[in-house]
Amino acid sequence: MDQYFKIYQKFDIHRLMLSDKRRVLMAYKNAIFNMKEKFQGKVVMDVGAGSGILSIFCAEVGVKKVYAVEASTLAQIIEQVSIENNLQNTIEVIHSKVEDIHPCNLEKIDIIVSLWMGFYLLHEGMLDSVLFARDNFLRRDGIMFPCEATLYASPCQLPSMYKFRVNSGDSLPVYLSMVSIGKEYRKIKSNEPEVLLLHQDNLLAEEKVLAWLNLNCISIEEVNLLGAKNYGSLCDKNGKYQGICIWFDIEFLDRSFLSTAPHDEVTHWKQTVVLPVDRKVEKDIEVKDIEVKEGYPIFYKLELKRDASNPRRYNIEFNFLDADEVFWDVIDAL
Ligand SMILES: C[S@@+](CC[C@H](N)C(=O)[O-])C[C@H]1O[C@@H](n2cnc3c(N)ncnc32)[C@H](O)[C@@H]1O
Repeated sequence: MDQYFKIYQKFDIHRLMLSDKRRVLMAYKNAIFNMKEKFQGKVVMDVGAGSGILSIFCAEVGVKKVYAVEASTLAQIIEQVSIENNLQNTIEVIHSKVEDIHPCNLEKIDIIVSLWMGFYLLHEGMLDSVLFARDNFLRRDGIMFPCEATLYASPCQLPSMYKFRVNSGDSLPVYLSMVSIGKEYRKIKSNEPEVLLLHQDNLLAEEKVLAWLNLNCISIEEVNLLGAKNYGSLCDKNGKYQGICIWFDIEFLDRSFLSTAPHDEVTHWKQTVVLPVDRKVEKDIEVKDIEVKEGYPIFYKLELKRDASNPRRYNIEFNFLDADEVFWDVIDAL
């Protein structure tokens, strides 16, 4: 079996997702219950049902049937969970990759429910499977749940990321310089997005939209073409410009949404930070801090690329830009 599905056989990952109250209760459950008239009597497909939680919510509001599609061995557990909750007549578990299901074996789907978002939205590449399900099983006027997703970016400072300290407690403070370790750590981190919680005070400028995905019509090809773009923002405070913070939100048909922004309550996705890769000094990345002041313009280039060797991964490259490297449209947008 695909290594990816083996990861989802581990219960700890589902425990983590189930304990994310904002995700489970405040976003998905509320949206399903708010829109219960739209769900009642309908045929739903839960793409990547995992523990079966979203299938259960759909069954509770009175759908005709939910196909709980799960490729990992967790599918067997969903059977048991649906019996435990006396929902076995509504939930039909399909232990398969959604891509391997033959449409003849299903009723036409009215609503696709899925929790497909990975870190910085696109990590894991599960969106491909949801779009496959939409294109092959959903009625023409069917509902995608969620229906929109937006990816945001904002320049930020990272005050604690490179600090290495000896933690000796207050009674016996130890003052040693650990700058070299911090520098090496920073070089390593320049090569991959880092998932962490960033306090909103560390954002230096208003966010820009990197991508807006209308899940009713976007194609996989369009997702793959998100590509590189230049951005510009005006700083709204003084600070050290060290990286770009990325987060996302999703929106449901009733206009309720789930945001993973630093200024919103914590979710298990946290935020993602990318550090600059300076190609001119690739061999020895001397990562510079840029001191910025309120009102200063900041320019950067972000490139979102699917990893050629692993399509479930996206590489995000971030480079500082000088004003003379950007086009007028970026400057005009400030
Ligand atoms: C992020 S988890 C969400 C689980 C559950 N829906 C929830 O909200 O807790 C994604 C689940 O989708 C399953 N999955 C991913 N791609 C799939 C595919 N192509 N076909 C079937 N299941 C898939 C994974 O095995 C995993 O259990």
